[in-house]
Formats: sequence, structure tokens, C-alpha cells
Amino acid sequence: MAYASPYVLSFLLLLSMPAVYYLAPRLLMPKTLPAIPDADETEDLALFRRAVLLSAAPAAGSGSGSGAAPSSFGVFGRRPQARPKVAFLFLTNSDLVFAPLWEKFFAGHHGLLNLYVHADPAANLTLPPTPSFRGRIIRGKATARASATLISAARRLLATALLDDPANQFFALLSQSCVPLLPFPALYRTLLTDNNAGRHRRHRSFIEILDSEPTLHARYYARGDNVMLPEVPFDRFRVGSQFFVLARRHAVMVVRDRRLWNKFKAPCLVKEKDSCYPEEHYFPTLLDMQDPDGCTKYTLTRVNWTDAVGGHPHTYQPEEVSGDLIRELRKSNGTYSHMFARKFAPETLAPLMEIADSVILRD
Ligand SMILES: *[C@@H]1O[C@H](CO)[C@@H](O)[C@H](O)[C@H]1NC(C)=O
Ligand SMILES: *[C@@H]1O[C@H](CO)[C@@H](O)[C@H](O)[C@H]1NC(C)=O
Ligand SMILES: *[C@@H]1O[C@H](CO)[C@@H](O)[C@H](O)[C@H]1NC(C)=O
Repeated sequence: MAYASPYVLSFLLLLSMPAVYYLAPRLLMPKTLPAIPDADETEDLALFRRAVLLSAAPAAGSGSGSGAAPSSFGVFGRRPQARPKVAFLFLTNSDLVFAPLWEKFFAGHHGLLNLYVHADPAANLTLPPTPSFRGRIIRGKATARASATLISAARRLLATALLDDPANQFFALLSQSCVPLLPFPALYRTLLTDNNAGRHRRHRSFIEILDSEPTLHARYYARGDNVMLPEVPFDRFRVGSQFFVLARRHAVMVVRDRRLWNKFKAPCLVKEKDSCYPEEHYFPTLLDMQDPDGCTKYTLTRVNWTDAVGGHPHTYQPEEVSGDLIRELRKSNGTYSHMFARKFAPETLAPLMEIADSVILRD
């Protein structure tokens, strides 16, 4: 026994080699996608705190939590002098090629709206040479798919707009590939006249909220088992459009939230990369938990998911653009027409500009 066998030892060593080869990459490779940098989180938190403090409703009986009165009623409980405004929040990682079209859409209505642009710093955004966008770029941070950075960017936009103007009562999140389908007054009318006819006549948020999509299960477990518990049980997990219009009290709700954010910011497992779309879940889940009756549960932004590849919807090309397409895209199963649509290829700017006055900006 004692002079046992170098042979046996080598044999054992040999046997273990495949195990090492098999295990080493698993030990060395990260199991999760990159997390959000702490520095970004800290800076965001300071911004969000400020936004919540300054927009916090001093409104009477705010204990009800639903914030029946817009928070900007202010210390003296009087209505703000300014008419409600729509804050347009552009979330982009490339140039805003449709700026000339948006410029037409905004023209003559600047008293009723504000603009904010969050650009990924790596995009080297060239400011659109149009007046509305000048000086409207906020401090952006890096964004990437399959991470919670798109949620952070949207929250940054919401917080900035809350702080910037108490008259901002609606917050429309858009991307660089979104285009308007109807003129601004149609949007304004829809947002202001809609309310859920309840006691409070509260404005609603227009955000898709779905609870039974086939991908829901995989997406819930994309961060690993039990990661979302106990705050987000599977049966409260929702999916919806990444682009939405929020009422002011919901913008405050989103910026104030830390409980759900702590769950949704957890990075996905590398092997679940293809099920990692936190930005399509965070907002619908949060709003559905906290104020389901305050949301329409459908979006005003039309997206064509036919033949979608890799999570990208159909991208309209120049030859597809026509008055008929715009009229088709407006059609909705909800109470209101769609106001925006995506995605449009940059090359569609010219044909869209051609039908802007005759179709898009006409009711
Ligand atoms: C932006 O500019 C930086 C430095 O000038 C460059 O390294 C980078 O490739 C640019 N990014 C894009 C998307 O053009
Ligand atoms: C949606 O996209 C498909 C191609 O992916 C296209 O055939 C169809 O016409 C589009 N639908 C609308 C309403 O534009
Ligand atoms: C409306 O609902 C029908 C039936 O569910 C569906 O086939 C259609 O795609 C929907 N249209 C829009 C614009 O969402």
C-alpha cells in the first residue's frame, strides 16, 4: 500500500482533468450581466430624493396616498397659474433624426409642453438644428440592453422634468425611432379629458399592463430563482410597453420607489440574457401594484410586433410610409387613437415630412 502507485495517482489526476476544464470557465466567468455602477446609483438617488421632496404633495389628506390633487397645488393649496404641460422625454442612444418632424408637431404649442433628452454619452449626440431641442439635454449615463440602465435613464428623465417645471403634469417617454401620428392638440385633449370618472377625477396614466404573456415566466426568473421575492411574487409580475405617458402622481411614485427598484436592478443571469428586458416590467408592475385603477392598461404608442426579431419590432422603411399607414397605425382597441408609433428607420424622415401637414398633423 505504502509504495502505492504513482500510477494510480497520475491516473486520478488524469481523470480529474476534464472536470477542471469543465469547471474552470464556470468559476472564472461571471454568472450575471454587469450591474449598475454604484456611483451612478448614488448620484441618481440624490436626484430622485430632491425630485420627490420638491414634488411631494403637501395636499390635504395626503395620507390617502393616491394624491388626488396634483402636487403642484403648492403650499397654499391654490391651483398653479400655468396650464398643465406635457413633458416629452426622449430616451436615445443616437441622433434624434425625427427632430424636424417633432418640431412641426410642437410648433405653436410651446406654452403647453417641455422637452428633455437623455442620451447615452457614447452616442456623441449631435443636437438637432431645431429650436425646441436646444439646451434640453440632461445629464445622461450609459445605457445598454439587457440591463436596468434603461429604467434608470427613464427615472432620471422623470425626476428632471418633475424638478424643472411644476406645470409638467404628463410625462411622455419616447425614443429616437418614435414619430407622432396626430397633432399635439389631439394628444393634449386626450390626456386632459380622460379621467377614470371616479370620485377624484384623477388623470390616468397610459401604460400597457399585461399579466399573461407567454414569455412572462422566463422573464420573471431571468435574475435567478427567488430573486424577486418577497416584494414581487410571480402573480404580481407584469409586462407592458417600454414607452408610456404617466400622470404626475405616477411620475412621483416611480421616482420615489426603492422597494421594487432594489429587485429590478439586480442583473440578469448571463444564460438568461435573451429573457432580460427589465424596462418592460418595472413600470407596469409598480403601477399595477400601487394604483391599478389609475392606469388605462393600454399604451398610446403603436408598435408592430409582427415578425419581430431579437426583441426588435418591425422597423418601417421609406417605401412603407404613406397616409394610409399613418391612418392604420392610429387605429386602436382602446378608447383613444394611438398618438405615437415606432419604430421608424431614419430614412423615413423625408417621406414622413412630405405627409406631415396633409396627414400627420391633421385630425
Ligand atoms: C464618440 O466619440 C468617442 C470619442 O470621440 C469615440 O471613441 C466613439 O467611438 C464615438 N461613438 C460613436 C457612437 O460614434
Ligand atoms: C407590420 O409589420 C409587417 C411586417 O413585419 C407588415 O407586413 C405589416 O403590414 C405591418 N402592419 C402594419 C399595420 O403596418
Ligand atoms: C385589436 O384586437 C384584435 C383582437 O384581439 C387584434 O387582433 C388586433 O391586433 C388589435 N388591434 C390593435 C391595433 O391592437
